[in-house]
Amino acid sequence: MSGVTLTNATKRYGSIQVIHGVNLEIEPSEFCVFVGPSGCGKSTLLRMIAGLEDTSGGTIHIGARDVTNVDAAARGIAMVFQSYALYPHMSVEENMGFGLRMNGVAKAEVKAKVDAVAKILKLEDYMTRKPKALSGGQRQRVAIGRALVRGPEVFLFDEPLSNLDAELRVDMRVEIARLHQEIGATMIYVTHDQVEAMTLADKIVVLRDGVIEQVGAPMVLYNDPDSKFVGGFIGSPSMNFIDGYKKGGKVIAPGLDGGLDGGLDGQKITPPASAGAKFTIGLRPEHITLDTKGAGLKVDIVEKLGGTTFVYAVNRDKNRLIIEYNGQDAVKSGDEVGIKFDHANLYFFDPESERRLR
Ligand SMILES: Nc1ncnc2c1ncn2[C@@H]1O[C@H](COP(=O)(O)OP(=O)(O)O)[C@@H](O)[C@H]1O
Ligand SMILES: [Mg+2]
Repeated sequence: MSGVTLTNATKRYGSIQVIHGVNLEIEPSEFCVFVGPSGCGKSTLLRMIAGLEDTSGGTIHIGARDVTNVDAAARGIAMVFQSYALYPHMSVEENMGFGLRMNGVAKAEVKAKVDAVAKILKLEDYMTRKPKALSGGQRQRVAIGRALVRGPEVFLFDEPLSNLDAELRVDMRVEIARLHQEIGATMIYVTHDQVEAMTLADKIVVLRDGVIEQVGAPMVLYNDPDSKFVGGFIGSPSMNFIDGYKKGGKVIAPGLDGGLDGGLDGQKITPPASAGAKFTIGLRPEHITLDTKGAGLKVDIVEKLGGTTFVYAVNRDKNRLIIEYNGQDAVKSGDEVGIKFDHANLYFFDPESERRLR
């Protein structure tokens, strides 16, 4: 298997630059996920690797081979898109073998390869069906199968599960993870869904406006975000952000102390030495303990998911906090509550640059 290396890769459409000097090393057999908000350049970057878009500057290597100016067909990659794009008049078997047949591969060999892939993807019982007689998840499996039979060195996926309903998405996500374990191919997977990114990736690349914000293993991004953007993007519900400032030797964070403008009662906050007079504090909902006997926050909305509950609370300065707890019946809308948290779980960010203060 080959890895993929991007060196100072850029993309311009006319005068508009959408990818700004991306440097990235994807290891052989790695599952790499590009994640970021809509329009940040995920598909463009993937299509550049595929050879479906020209690269305006920099280089792309697959293994040791410089493929920057190599045709898509000769790059040894296969791509799976959000829309399955199966041929409606062909059976599953014919759809899966189509690419090989077009390349003049002998009939018996096509059949052997298609059968082997059908087995991996559990499609054996559907081989004679036409796409219209398949569910969305089965169609997407056929699309993946069609890519798989070509035996590519690198698999590219662009939001392959976006057209599926929630339950199927979870099933397919698990199947793709299993497929990666089984065949060990290098996979690059684009999604805007941070849960998909967290569960599938060996390595996550967080993109923002055509620039890499941070690269790392899922738990590294979760535990140690370099910026407010990554802190807010990874984790669900999103990290709470609270304004803090220093005043007369005291640290004040109205969003954490019920809006009492005189410093935090119970808990002292110590920003890192690099913090200026103002800073932003990050605190994840799952790192806040609800204090039902405390005060300072009024419960607005309660979302019960069964195992966990999300409490949306507001203090008297109208600062909002999302609090997660395990259980169902601790509070209801309108209740007065307090919070507790461990200082070790606070993140500090520069309010201007939004970079992490350490
Ligand atoms: N053919 C094109 N011409 C001009 N701009 C484009 C073209 N394709 C994409 N873009 C722009 O490039 C940016 C990145 O798009 P895209 O890679 O599709 O984002 P994502 O997949 O992350 O949602 C967007 O601002 C988009 O409008
Ligand atoms: Mg896209």
